[in-house]
Amino acid sequence: MANIRKIGVLTGGGDAPGLNAVIRAVVKSALNNGIDCYGIPNSYDGLLEADRPFPLTRDSVTGILRMGGTILGTVNRGNPLAEPVQTSDGEKVYAERCLEIFRRLEFDALVAIGGDGTLALSHDFYQMGMPIVGVPKTIDNDIVGTVNCFGFDTAVSFASHAIDRLHSTAAAHRRIMVVEVMGRYAGWIALQAGISGGADVVLIPEISYHLERIAEKIRERDQYGAKFTIVVVAEGAKEEGGEVSVVKRAEGQFVERLGGIGHRVALQLQELTGKEARATVLGHLQRGGTPTAFDRVLATRFGAKAVELMMRGDFGRMVASHPPDVVPVALSEVVGRTKTVPLTSDLIRTARAVGICFGD
Ligand code: F6P
Repeated sequence: MANIRKIGVLTGGGDAPGLNAVIRAVVKSALNNGIDCYGIPNSYDGLLEADRPFPLTRDSVTGILRMGGTILGTVNRGNPLAEPVQTSDGEKVYAERCLEIFRRLEFDALVAIGGDGTLALSHDFYQMGMPIVGVPKTIDNDIVGTVNCFGFDTAVSFASHAIDRLHSTAAAHRRIMVVEVMGRYAGWIALQAGISGGADVVLIPEISYHLERIAEKIRERDQYGAKFTIVVVAEGAKEEGGEVSVVKRAEGQFVERLGGIGHRVALQLQELTGKEARATVLGHLQRGGTPTAFDRVLATRFGAKAVELMMRGDFGRMVASHPPDVVPVALSEVVGRTKTVPLTSDLIRTARAVGICFGD
């Protein structure tokens, strides 16, 4: 057993429903084991000054289980490690400053809850000597090494309900309704929401689409009397030979922002088929609101497991869902990789079996 008396916890990257449930579980498990817990605000930026981290008590986490967002705040940008930063002690290198404050405050360990970017950053900090346990977070479900991530189920449920609502208006007007969902590199949300919402077409980053194939599907539906079509498109989907739709290119530390594919596909299908088409972008609505029961349970298990690993001195790991267990996996095996939808997976085969068109 490691001698852990004081830990920090931070959240990084885009928020996901369930972050607060993880924080609550970390704080409760830590305090129940006599470990003091500190919140580090706004990801690693909270380690740039010694007065930023603040104590987390049982009272701080009362009532947050069901809350979206993160009580710690978060930052979504690229790797700031080598960046020079202006601090109260003069200009410092970001990574060195964080390590300095971590040591000055006598933290024994850190729980870093975040997506691919934050986990990669955490792996770097771990290699520099910070004892870290990672907790994977993503609504996209694209982190390698874990079957599930909290936030994904909430996002899929929301998108599925949205598709339900679009069905009635699509049918009433005999329109093509295109729904753009999140999923930069992986189509998990589009696929699961598409299957659960009864979509006719699902476009995902893993399968480049041909517009004419989608138009054929729409004509076929028209012929047998279903005069409307629901198309679910992941933000990172692209036409065969085409490019992903970008709102803003990567700049400095900021990563590329995707968007616009829903409207583009709607317009193109309208022109190809002569049918009216409309696009709805679900965007950040998928990340807001209260987590589902599934996500709350997973988040709580992740938080409790992170504290267990720290107490064992098992650092440089990420907690991961391997049903029915939550297990540690090495951060080194996770970073720099993306869990995309396997083309031979049962999910894809199921979708094809019920007639969902991928545009291929
Ligand atoms: O990675 C999660 C995610 O929701 C992506 O699906 C999306 O592209 C991105 O975050 C949006 O990030 P931001 O909140 O910075 O716009």
